Amino acid sequence: MSFRRPFTAVGGLSGGLVAGGRSSRRLRLRAGAAALLALALGASGCSVKSASNPNVIMGKQAFVAKCGSCHTLARANTKGIIGPNLDEAFRSGLSEGPQRNAVRGIVEAQIRIPNPEGAMPKDLVKGATAKDVAAYVAQVVARPGQDKGLLATAVEAPGAGKPAVEKGGKLSIPASPSGQLAYVTNKASGTAGPVTIEMPNTSGVTHNIAIEAGEHGATPSGAKLGASPFTSKTTASVKVSLKAGTYTFFCEVPGHRPAGMYGTLTVK
Ligand code: HEC
Repeated sequence: MSFRRPFTAVGGLSGGLVAGGRSSRRLRLRAGAAALLALALGASGCSVKSASNPNVIMGKQAFVAKCGSCHTLARANTKGIIGPNLDEAFRSGLSEGPQRNAVRGIVEAQIRIPNPEGAMPKDLVKGATAKDVAAYVAQVVARPGQDKGLLATAVEAPGAGKPAVEKGGKLSIPASPSGQLAYVTNKASGTAGPVTIEMPNTSGVTHNIAIEAGEHGATPSGAKLGASPFTSKTTASVKVSLKAGTYTFFCEVPGHRPAGMYGTLTVK
């Protein structure tokens, strides 16, 4: 899988956003999903095969790991913005039963044959996993409320890990290995002076770690003190010298900070 493409695409998109290219594209796509749904339903069952015993727990995990960095899906708590919001894409005309089965077929087809001109790589998940992902998406897309039971705990809550603590001038804040747009923790602490902030990233999703003074949450302050390079599968680091106070660490990939990829660093 290649997660570099999305990042390049986003970089190129910032200009396109202003020109409105993206929103019209989204509208077209939304119509696409709805139209496909109508087609699949009209075909009276012959185009939609039911997968045997898909595992929606694994489907959720794989969705978060391989799809969530680009797609928003409320139940999976993913907030990617590179591809269409899947809840929105499938909402129109979707109720229960046959429609949800049809969604399964559409999602499987999309995984195998995405738009070649789009930013979605093909075959991100294969075989049984593709069926699991499709079954999970079909079960939860555009469905209000929250996942329950085993599905609720299938993926850890973003940023809820143990706070990171500086040791010997090093502070390690890993990116979520599950592919979520989050660091494993949204809290860190250290002592005044020079510090190397490291971000190990094994997720395959491109991230970096930047730092600014003050506690700003999802809203950039504009006063950046430093930033690591971007990486999708190694450790990136940045060295800064910090006085006692409160700082925000965050990812600079467009869309990641608003999705929750930030935290607070307290220096004493
Ligand atoms: C690198 C970003 C990226 C990743 C990762 C990604 N997608 Fe996509 N996806 C897109 C883009 C961009 C589109 C719209 C263009 C297209 O249809 O290929 C899209 C379209 C779709 C659509 C059609 C929506 C519509 O409105 O018609 C579905 C369904 C979908 N993706 C599901 C998935 C699933 C499931 C995964 C994980 C296996 C996934 N995507 C991973 C970027 C991504």
